[in-house]
Amino acid sequence: MNSYHIRFAMAPDAGAIALICHTGFYQVHESGFVKQDLESFCQQAYAPEAIATDLEKEDRFYLVLVCDEKPVGCLRMAPPTLDLAKPDSSGFELARFYLEQGHQSGGWGGKMLAMAENETRRRGYRNIWLHVFIPNSRAQAFYLRHGYQKMGQEKLIYRQSQPTGFVLKKSLVAGDPA
Ligand SMILES: CC(C)(COP(=O)(O)OP(=O)(O)OC[C@H]1O[C@@H](n2cnc3c(N)ncnc32)[C@H](O)[C@@H]1OP(=O)(O)O)[C@@H](O)C(=O)NCCC(=O)NCCS
Repeated sequence: MNSYHIRFAMAPDAGAIALICHTGFYQVHESGFVKQDLESFCQQAYAPEAIATDLEKEDRFYLVLVCDEKPVGCLRMAPPTLDLAKPDSSGFELARFYLEQGHQSGGWGGKMLAMAENETRRRGYRNIWLHVFIPNSRAQAFYLRHGYQKMGQEKLIYRQSQPTGFVLKKSLVAGDPA
């Protein structure tokens, strides 16, 4: 029987997070990128040193899902980068949410999302924004089930590649508009 828990990531998790993000992003976005662009994007964005630097910043946090002492999933919350989210001064952006394949569909993603939402609310933010690649319909179903709503679409432009995704938002405060 595997033993799982979720915790805030720490500096020594950088290498594991880099690998989980590299693999997860590659699998999800394979149909949306020119192959060389995808490889170069993953190498840049998910280099262990880049993740280590990101982990040190105080305006963001990562969660990790740990199975038998080993990180098998991650999620990052940070200030908005999406065009639709940037004007929202009470918005925080979810990204880098990947579980290794053997650990998906066991309910842990839902628990990580709930913990990320609670910490985001505790930090005083009112809305969570995210971008999900259009062909990734299972992840969309997951977010819609958890109360996220479609606000529009955005292209992520990287060299010759332009994968398009839906921008979703969830209000964390009862009574706020969606
Ligand atoms: C999306 C994800 C983080 C959810 O975590 P999880 O632990 O699998 O989710 P839960 O067990 O709480 O909920 C299960 C639901 O998640 C979604 N899901 C499960 N496996 C999935 C997969 N391989 N890809 C996308 N979504 C998936 C489905 O909606 C699923 O419902 P279903 O089992 O009825 O199809 C996880 O499945 C994952 O890492 N998927 C691949 C990467 C991804 O799409 N990340 C999101 C990028 S925006």
